[in-house]
Amino acid sequence: MDKIEITGGIRLKGEVTISGAKNAVLPLMTAAILSSGDSNIHNVPHLRDVMTMGKLLAHLGFGFHLENSKILLRTKKVTSIDAPYDFVKTMRASVLVLGPLLARTGRAKVSLPGGCAIGARPINLHIMGLEKMGAKINLAEGYIEAKAKRLRGATIYFDMPTVTGTENLMMAASIADGTTILENAACEPEVVDLANALISMGADIEGAGTSVIRIKGVSRLRPLDYTAIADRIETATFIAAAAITGGDIRINGGRPEHIEAIISKMKEAGVKITLKNNKLTVKGPDRLSSVDIKTMPFPGFPTDMQAQFMTMMAIAEGTSLITESIFENRFMHVAELRRMGADIRIEGSTATVKGIDTLKGAPVMATDLRASASLVVAGLAAEGTTVIDRVYHLDRGYERIEEKLKMLGAEIRRIK
Ligand code: EPU
Repeated sequence: MDKIEITGGIRLKGEVTISGAKNAVLPLMTAAILSSGDSNIHNVPHLRDVMTMGKLLAHLGFGFHLENSKILLRTKKVTSIDAPYDFVKTMRASVLVLGPLLARTGRAKVSLPGGCAIGARPINLHIMGLEKMGAKINLAEGYIEAKAKRLRGATIYFDMPTVTGTENLMMAASIADGTTILENAACEPEVVDLANALISMGADIEGAGTSVIRIKGVSRLRPLDYTAIADRIETATFIAAAAITGGDIRINGGRPEHIEAIISKMKEAGVKITLKNNKLTVKGPDRLSSVDIKTMPFPGFPTDMQAQFMTMMAIAEGTSLITESIFENRFMHVAELRRMGADIRIEGSTATVKGIDTLKGAPVMATDLRASASLVVAGLAAEGTTVIDRVYHLDRGYERIEEKLKMLGAEIRRIK
């Protein structure tokens, strides 16, 4: 199992280019299921999750080829309608095949995801929505078996905004009979990107990016040829890395309009962020100031950036309160940050972070994707050497992170 070793204390300097967004590319890949032909997706990051989705699509009978940053998907024929447990247990986003498969073939069998490191993460809202659209759903032996000769439009209210739930139903509704209205839908940029991609395939969708999305079903969709948006969480993670090291970097390709809440909180913490010639310039202060955050659905502060921000707060001046309101167990990084000397106390869904002068390098363990990113950020700022174990979590969502950080001057290497 690979490890990453970082010797901290170096101010990051230079320029970094952001990759395509994992959470945009995964639904785009499953959107291709809705058409029959050759689809192309551009700006695709080389990540473990993208490969897992590729293998799942190959299992369904499709051709999958990733070269440079482009995916070619051949979706002429569906030869299997099941997403087995092996795929779903390694990547929950596998559930994104449910809506498109059911809409295209009238049948889908998808393993129920279990709990995961960051929480229980049920998919009851995906199921409720498909049932409202006329699907017969049976839960047996750990699988969801869905059947519907043809899905029909419905008005669906989500008890809480769900990103992949909104995406699954938007895809299914695109080729259903009649009009579907999604209420209290997720507004994340990745949902908007998927809507734009579906529209480019011929779908009739209005309101993506707001909490009400209206989808008028069409009889067929063209194959996809689409460029995914840049990864907002990767962008923000590099901002955190520059901020915590008192660095001075330029970020190429990041979309500031997708991270306004993060930029606002970073500025409050003393980070200077400006936009010049389409590049974000980030300058970290000598010492960060403490700031409170609460994670919220978009446009609120994203849960996927909570751990990295907490690391910054661990060495900020003063005390900050960090409240996680999306996932019930997304504080796994706290125990690891404590091993590096951080003073953090958890009570319910709030962590109280008392800023200390400096973190100390230590062997630590990655527990999930964003927790691993927070440990990398911690290692960059810590005195001495940090060794992060189980970096396969990091490889799920950050393309060539150690190479990119090395280009910014960091002392970082992968131990095979
Ligand atoms: N929820 C339900 N029932 C459902 C669906 C969701 O109760 O049927 C709850 C969840 O348990 C959670 C909340 O609703 O408390 C929001 O979850 P959501 O469904 O929005 O999460 P997701 O779609 O499974 C996506 C991202 C996650 C990101 C969350 C929140 C993808 C592939 N995954 O997950 O990304 O944290 O939205 O923004 O888009 C990551 O990249 O590290 C990651 C975990």
